[in-house]
Amino acid sequence: MDWLNRWREAQNLEAPAVVPRLPPGVRAAFPGALRCLEAWTGEGAGFARYASAHGPLFLKYLPAAAQQPRPYHRLAREIAYLRDLAPLSPVPHAPLLHAAQDSATHRAHLITADLTDSTLGWGAFASDEAREGALLDIVRLLALHHAFWWNRPEVTAPTAQAEWTWNPARAVRQAQEIARFSGAAVQDAARQLPELLAATSGVTLAHGDIHSGQVLWPEGGGPPILIDYGQTQTAPLGVDFAHLLALRLNAAERLRLGPSLRATYLAELARHGLTLSTQQFAHEERAGLALNLLSTARQAVRTTDRESGVGEALERAAAAWQAG
Ligand SMILES: Nc1ncnc2c1ncn2[C@@H]1O[C@H](COP(=O)(O)OP(=O)(O)OP(=O)(O)O)[C@@H](O)[C@H]1O
Ligand SMILES: [Mg+2]
Repeated sequence: MDWLNRWREAQNLEAPAVVPRLPPGVRAAFPGALRCLEAWTGEGAGFARYASAHGPLFLKYLPAAAQQPRPYHRLAREIAYLRDLAPLSPVPHAPLLHAAQDSATHRAHLITADLTDSTLGWGAFASDEAREGALLDIVRLLALHHAFWWNRPEVTAPTAQAEWTWNPARAVRQAQEIARFSGAAVQDAARQLPELLAATSGVTLAHGDIHSGQVLWPEGGGPPILIDYGQTQTAPLGVDFAHLLALRLNAAERLRLGPSLRATYLAELARHGLTLSTQQFAHEERAGLALNLLSTARQAVRTTDRESGVGEALERAAAAWQAG
């Protein structure tokens, strides 16, 4: 079952590890010895781990090549989520310890507690059975996240910050734009989007990029931890679930695992006070799939990097859409 590892591998085309210069403000925020244990660069961000007098630290920053509007806005969004919203939520996360950003230069960094020594990642699950169990953990974690943010004032009130509000008219407008450059599946999703959105029953905070590399499991057991909030956005309920199934599983896996993942997700939503009929959730998931297909099509038009996996993601989303 290689599927969920593929995107991680794509992200791990590491440049030679260069110990980054400490970003401004870090030294002052963490006085005393700071020892870099490890440093690497991923697709968008750079990372480093430090031993410090304040405990283990995990730095995520924008290397020079990534000091561009898009990566900057992703990191700024993650900072905003971790600073303003995560502390309200029962979803375990790596607490934000320090952050800085500069919209003029597109530099930004954040420091969270480094969980490397106390957690395991997806790679630790060695059998298909273990990985399927871990996938159920992921949908339970999503359900907790979604039930908590469901129609909450931070994302729905007129006073909510613009960053966290859902704008269906904009989604429809963007869908119509991308349909002009896209194939039949995307055009179909764009055409159906207004009706699909009208049939949804509310909004929640979607993680926006859910996959196996976004969860850390505490070594001694205990609730898994959700990380990487750079694509967090308010959206209809089905967006994350449809993303996991349509973009991160292949068709055979989706057929085999879909029913148990769906049942587990719905049961966990209900356990946290959000009860949906199977039929209502089918609407939510279809709307979520349409939004994923459309956003992947937008990404595919933007990207020039053939290796990045966006083309394959688009094919998967389109096939899932057409499979009904
Ligand atoms: N607080 C943390 N403690 C330990 N490990 C972490 C922590 N945060 C992130 N990681 C590890 O670093 C990896 C990359 O972090 P993250 O998911 O936040 O970045 P990303 O945007 O996916 O980066 P890229 O796409 O460049 O890989 C994670 O998959 C996880 O293994
Ligand atoms: Mg990630």
